Amino acid sequence: MFAPSTQPLSPTELQRTLQALLADERDWIANLANTAALLWHSLPNINWVGFYLLKHGELVLGPFQGKPACVRIALGKGVCGTAAAQRRTLVVPNVHEFAGHIACDSASNSEIVVPLIKNGELFGVLDVDSPVLARFGVEDQASLEAMAAILMANSSTP
Ligand code: SME
Repeated sequence: MFAPSTQPLSPTELQRTLQALLADERDWIANLANTAALLWHSLPNINWVGFYLLKHGELVLGPFQGKPACVRIALGKGVCGTAAAQRRTLVVPNVHEFAGHIACDSASNSEIVVPLIKNGELFGVLDVDSPVLARFGVEDQASLEAMAAILMANSSTP
């Protein structure tokens, strides 16, 4: 089972909505939470969306929507830890073929992870899971990287 999309938005609409949502707020956790909620209700065919935040050299679960998830991920482990270590977006069409994938929700079949970087410093990752194989393509990558950039530009990082 996964969340129905209440209002699918185009990448441009998503970016405008996020910019408006974050315009008057700089609190890091509040902005992470609202970004996760916006994506949850705007992206079709996803079963988890949220953040892992870099704390003391490991990724720790942050604001998210979806089922409860694993809390700590070491850098270099799983899709999230690999994207964080390599500081680049990873698009995984089939998580069952990704060596070391960490299964938090058995419904997940594909995944995209975007690093959160500000002024050259890594603060965590945005992770989106889908029950649909190959759900995420180059347009989704561009759109989610733009969303991450808006989030970082509008937030006071810890
Ligand atoms: N699948 C991720 C773990 C986090 S959950 O998907 C929410 C990974 O392999 O890093």
